[in-house]
Amino acid sequence: MINRPELGPLVTFVPNKNLPVYSWFYYKEGFSRDFVMKMFREFNAKPDPDFSVLDPFMGVGTTLVASREFGVTSFGFDISPLPVFASRVKTRDYNTDEIKKWTKWLFSQKFERIDYESSSLVKRAFKKPILDEIVFLRETINGIPNELYRDLFLLALINASNKASYAFKDGAVIKFRKRPVPPIREMLKRTLKQFSRDVEKIKFKNVSAYPELGDARNILLDDGSVDMVITSPPYLNKIEYTRVYSIEMELFFNYIRTPNMIDSALGKNVKISHKDIESLEKYLNPSDPEIAFKYLKDLQQVLEEMERVTKPGVPVIIVVGNGCLPNKVVETDTIIADMGKDMGFDLVDIWVANQRWCTRNRTEKVGLSRESVVVLKKV
Ligand SMILES: C[S@@+](CC[C@H](N)C(=O)[O-])C[C@H]1O[C@@H](n2cnc3c(N)ncnc32)[C@H](O)[C@@H]1O
Repeated sequence: MINRPELGPLVTFVPNKNLPVYSWFYYKEGFSRDFVMKMFREFNAKPDPDFSVLDPFMGVGTTLVASREFGVTSFGFDISPLPVFASRVKTRDYNTDEIKKWTKWLFSQKFERIDYESSSLVKRAFKKPILDEIVFLRETINGIPNELYRDLFLLALINASNKASYAFKDGAVIKFRKRPVPPIREMLKRTLKQFSRDVEKIKFKNVSAYPELGDARNILLDDGSVDMVITSPPYLNKIEYTRVYSIEMELFFNYIRTPNMIDSALGKNVKISHKDIESLEKYLNPSDPEIAFKYLKDLQQVLEEMERVTKPGVPVIIVVGNGCLPNKVVETDTIIADMGKDMGFDLVDIWVANQRWCTRNRTEKVGLSRESVVVLKKV
């Protein structure tokens, strides 16, 4: 285990905030372009369309966008439709004349009030006239016949709506703050201009990226087909990613959170047998919460899948935070390393990027929790 504090900021989304394309959808759970590029350099990857990179917990596609910039083919899966949508939009090629043309068309459409139903959550997030405008703009954008630009404009509207909202994300919960908000049309115009500038700035190579809806526990790729894995699973303390994005999901995907979707997140809807509990007892005590057992069982399945789809000698790079339980820290990084070794990976290293205290009742210290990069190598 080596301390690498220089990786600390890179395993967060913060460095992406001002980067063209990467910044199109703020995803607190993401890591940075610079992290992915650093891994390409450290593991001697070379631009080559026949080289394939996998991120089975793709989020908003940081690994895939960086792969397109670097010049390698990439595959990504995520269980949740919103990040998959953002990843799709961010990994495509656009023509700025088309963006201009559709912007002009959009803002020449005359506002009409459209009837809609919305939850109390959405009503609380927006002033009524702003919500009316957002719904009108959404419906107008849905009339763009070319899917490429329809999706791009919808992501721009999602981005702009977040800036015109009283709601904000505070860790795992949505909070509200009444404040002066900018007019949504102006916000959207500005966002589209920025997207258009970004399209000119980013230099994508002629390689494909495949962002898909899918489950990391059942990766839809052939055995021995992948040359490198760069990924970050949900952390034990934050396995449910959909709740804080409920407003976007409802407004733009007409998608009310379904138990089905939440159940397929890591650590949920897993049946745990006595045998599983026994096999995980080297990492947990029987009295530990069931969720910790389910989470580790799922992680084990994901590792098996990564072992299956990779070629021999391939690096598997996993950014993970340890889990805080009320009475102890679950050292997910060393557990992944151990599980990996059991299923035929070599452990290259564990790089500690950040350390934080786990606390009980906000003040009582329970233990130090690491955020680490676990590097395994398929034998
Ligand atoms: C830590 S985030 C990854 C963020 C990503 N590195 C980025 O830069 O955007 C973990 C992601 O895993 C997804 N997820 C949770 N359970 C999953 C599963 N069973 N299969 C695939 N993805 C899953 C969540 O929706 C979330 O987007």
